[in-house]
Amino acid sequence: MNIYNKVSQVRNQVKEWKRAGLSVGFVPTMGYLHEGHESLIRKAASENDKVVVSIFVNPTQFGPNEDLEKYPRDLKKDSLICAGAGADLIFHPEIEEMYVKDACTSVNMNGLTDGLCGKSRPTHFSGVCTVVTKLFNIVPADKAYFGEKDAQQLAIIKKMVEDLNIDIQIIGCPIIREEDGLAKSSRNIYLSPVEREAALVLNKSLKVARKAIEAGVKNTSDLKGLIVDMIEKEPLAKIDYVEIVDSRSLKEVDFIEENVLVALAVYIGKTRLIDNFTYFI
Ligand code: PAJ
Repeated sequence: MNIYNKVSQVRNQVKEWKRAGLSVGFVPTMGYLHEGHESLIRKAASENDKVVVSIFVNPTQFGPNEDLEKYPRDLKKDSLICAGAGADLIFHPEIEEMYVKDACTSVNMNGLTDGLCGKSRPTHFSGVCTVVTKLFNIVPADKAYFGEKDAQQLAIIKKMVEDLNIDIQIIGCPIIREEDGLAKSSRNIYLSPVEREAALVLNKSLKVARKAIEAGVKNTSDLKGLIVDMIEKEPLAKIDYVEIVDSRSLKEVDFIEENVLVALAVYIGKTRLIDNFTYFI
């Protein structure tokens, strides 16, 4: 497995594979890989002849007071995980390789990016759309793999690819969790042992909501109330949002009549964590 840091190296390699008639799967990441990322790479390897993983902590998707500087990094461990999961190439560019100094183009979307995480992170999805478009232009893969952990990101990327006629199939992959239910995340490393315990409230409250829906509660303000009450009982937790939205339009709904995404973002101490589930009618 090769690690390349130049755009031209990756382009040439992927072009060579495509000329040889090989299919290419692509897994974009910001590194500090865990079993969530690994599941995406394994799926890509099972469905394609070659797999490219990008590892790039993208500055344009971080807000001014967010954790860009301290975002965890470990290329050595990441390469072992990539190789073990069946990747053929890692693209690990420097910031200057990805963004020319006078870069003045970005990809912006309306609607889907406004709610949920977009409310408290207003510039985040423009950064994500811009870097993912650039990565898709560098790695012209057949399929690209994204986790349902970032459900809004997945919906946005699917729509962006449709709107901009990008010739890559987007594959969504299920959330991988710790044994006790906490969704795996590179940011879990920030949690102290007490905070780690408190963080379980995200998944626990979602489970309670799922049970209530299954028991017939369809009014979303009642359901959100259940989740909020439970989280507010946890002293270390502070809610950013709890939303129930249509799973495609991401618009808020009053009653559950179509498939819905139940999503939340909660600060545990200083760490902002997200989790969700989709309820299929
Ligand atoms: P990152 O947070 O590193 O995540 C890379 C991919 O792994 C995303 O598609 C994310 O949804 C998926 N992932 C993370 N945790 C997961 C889990 N517990 N289960 C399943 N999948 C999981 O998302 C990004 O990076 C960036 O925004 C990126 C798309 C790379 C653009 O910079």
